[in-house]
Amino acid sequence: MKKNFLQLIVLMCFVPFSLGVSGQSTYKFEVNTKKIGAPIQSTMYGQFFEDINFGADGGLYGELVKNRSFDFPQHFMGWYTFGKVDISTENAPFNRNPNYVILNEASHPHKQTGIENEGFRGMGFKEGKSYRFTVWGKSIKGEEQTIRVELLDPHYHILGSEKVIIKANEWSKYEVIIKSNKTEPKGRLRVFLESKGPLALEHVSLFPVDTYKGRENGLRKDLAQALEDMSPGIFRFPGGCIVEGTEIHDRYDWKKTVGIVENRPVNKNRWEYTFKNRYFPDYYQSYGLGFYEYFLLAEDMGAEPLPVVNCGLTCQYQNEHEECYVAVEDLGPYIQDALDLIEFANGPTTSTWGGLRAEMGHPEPFNLKFIGIGNEQWGEAYTKRLEPFVKALRAKYPEIKIIGSSGPKADGKEFDYLWPEMKKLKVDLVDEHYYQSPEWFLSNASRYDNYDRKGPAVFAGEYACHMPKGKANNFASALYEAAFMTGLERNADIVHMCTYAPLFAHVDAWQWRPDMIWFDNMRVMKTPNYYVQQMYAQNVGTHVVSLTSNKKPVTGDDGLYASAVYDKNNQSYIVKIVNTEAKAKKVAIDFKGFKKASEADVELLVFQNENLKAENSLDNPNQVVPKTLQPTRFVGNEFLVDVDPQTFIVYKVKQQK
Ligand code: AHR
Repeated sequence: MKKNFLQLIVLMCFVPFSLGVSGQSTYKFEVNTKKIGAPIQSTMYGQFFEDINFGADGGLYGELVKNRSFDFPQHFMGWYTFGKVDISTENAPFNRNPNYVILNEASHPHKQTGIENEGFRGMGFKEGKSYRFTVWGKSIKGEEQTIRVELLDPHYHILGSEKVIIKANEWSKYEVIIKSNKTEPKGRLRVFLESKGPLALEHVSLFPVDTYKGRENGLRKDLAQALEDMSPGIFRFPGGCIVEGTEIHDRYDWKKTVGIVENRPVNKNRWEYTFKNRYFPDYYQSYGLGFYEYFLLAEDMGAEPLPVVNCGLTCQYQNEHEECYVAVEDLGPYIQDALDLIEFANGPTTSTWGGLRAEMGHPEPFNLKFIGIGNEQWGEAYTKRLEPFVKALRAKYPEIKIIGSSGPKADGKEFDYLWPEMKKLKVDLVDEHYYQSPEWFLSNASRYDNYDRKGPAVFAGEYACHMPKGKANNFASALYEAAFMTGLERNADIVHMCTYAPLFAHVDAWQWRPDMIWFDNMRVMKTPNYYVQQMYAQNVGTHVVSLTSNKKPVTGDDGLYASAVYDKNNQSYIVKIVNTEAKAKKVAIDFKGFKKASEADVELLVFQNENLKAENSLDNPNQVVPKTLQPTRFVGNEFLVDVDPQTFIVYKVKQQK
């Protein structure tokens, strides 16, 4: 809002101001612009990505074919076969994904041989859009072979079709672009053998041509764009519990997720079986979205990458005893994996892992600065394993910041044990997790006000307000998170990162809720919680400034929460105010040190809803969204803000020179 507009508003809206207008008291907030406080890290607001709820395969990863390499333990899971189809591993082109199919001539000239894939709860096709079909093929007897590839709707109408000629009797990659003539959220893919065979096919893949940044092996554009649009400062990956594994061999091993996609071995996804009432037997990780792609995404979004590696512990919820973990004396290869990861991200192209990064298309380093050792581990089992990791990392990469865990809860026995241990081990940040009730969020805005400033900084690595009865992503949950986050912001000298969790959920295949972004095969829906994260991330500022009322921080009295930052890049002050009550509030903000309020530019972003239960949906995604509105008034150096019931306000003020 520019000065002239502001002056116009003043003329229209100014009413003589005094405390107690309309019988309603005015809350006085004082923002001390004379003393700029601690710097805010660029990593302050970010994202936590895990392949849960079909977040990667079937979600962000653009691949439309499920079990593309036939290496799920049930080799034809996701596939229908017809005619004569065999499975083989003989002379397999990709040793870590050895299974492939052989299409043989059907037993009768009127019969057909082929395979059909159901996708991830269907395949999303858009009218007029192109899809890249690729396959590795080999004509077993050397004769030219032909396949017909069809995009279908669930009623088997053909939406697009192309032929591919397979000439070689050596394995080669073939590609064809197919255009869809209709929009279809539940599409399928069919491959017919049109010649006599036998023909071997491997790694049958279909991607939209139009991926995020147009990359092959790319990301679903709308989902990746939604991530970028939040303006994250940090991007944590790949989890979450999937880092750990139920058994050590199914932990997330980053080395299996780099190099050519065809040879990244399929792994079980632990979210397949975590909840018996939400069981997903077809949930596997293709690792097509692997560590290289995560680094690239972080870079594309302007976020710092934050990989988390396994520390020799399997999931402690599922494994209580030492014998389920890697013995401390056997941790060598795990520690080496962490060191090699840093080399992969930052090492010269002449190094082994830096060389692989270059080979994959990124000779420049990714400038990795942080690494998480273990997910939400706890107990002595963790600390005695973390110690040798810290030692080795410090010795080789002293510049890399190490993140340790404080366990799965915001307080309690494990938490109380781990924090002092993290200090002793001198990690740089401690990851705290809190999936908590509305009451907890509303009463914890001062959580960090008295934290020890001398130890490691805080990474609020997983948090979300869990509403009773259904854990909805409704407006209330977002508002309470916004209230709590004023406390993160006020304490940004010690809180250096925070990431809501989990990030994504497919409406037809979720295991956990609430989640920040929901989607189906065609559409994306940003929750109210997303908008709160975005409002913070896009108004992060560069320094904390003190905001008080009656000389105290504003942490929930009368439902009011507030914090303030300074943004040195455009010399503005940004005040965040949350009113959680169903009653409007009048707030007068006094920017101590301002010369003349009437000569300031003001921008106002308001997120408000009368209905705490309001939610967005895929059919109605813009029901609950922030708005830029509300005229502002001022008297002297005080800015008067009408804070509606149940409102989160971002109030940006720039003083004219
Ligand atoms: O975000 C879902 C899960 O919650 C994460 O995988 C885990 O770290 C936590 O228990």
